[in-house]
Amino acid sequence: MEQTYIMIKPDGVQRGLVGDIISRFEQKGFYLKGLKIITVDRALAEKHYADLSAKPFFNGLVEYIISGPVVAMVWEGKNVVVTGRKIIGATNPADSAPGTIRGDFAIDIGRNVIHGSDSVESARKEIALWFPEGTVNWQCSSH
Ligand code: CMP
Repeated sequence: MEQTYIMIKPDGVQRGLVGDIISRFEQKGFYLKGLKIITVDRALAEKHYADLSAKPFFNGLVEYIISGPVVAMVWEGKNVVVTGRKIIGATNPADSAPGTIRGDFAIDIGRNVIHGSDSVESARKEIALWFPEGTVNWQCSSH
């Protein structure tokens, strides 16, 4: 079954949005397979965003991610990568529709509350990076 990596960024944790965000994924029908709150060190943040290392906003992005705890999660379910990105909304909150997480809670691309893997391959790499200890293996009877 498909899995994705979802991370509530420091602004989302500090603003008390964790419960609402988890509810949206649960209510859609996805299954929570991994969850932890961690303060990220610079090396992990830089590795996660390595593809963006040449971007002018890279240093600011890393500072933002290490500025406070994040909630790292693995969600599972049919088409969870693409559907998870729809639940999250467009990267730039100026373009994200009301009803999406960023559409409802963010106005600044540099403080956009949440991250979600952009492909099945990215999800595989990100889950391995953030959950080297592995995730739980449970299934709902209807899953
Ligand atoms: P995320 O989904 O975590 O993937 C890459 C992140 O880079 C993105 O969300 C934004 O937080 C950040 N980002 C992308 N473009 C910009 C930008 N122009 N300025 C600042 N941050 C950006």
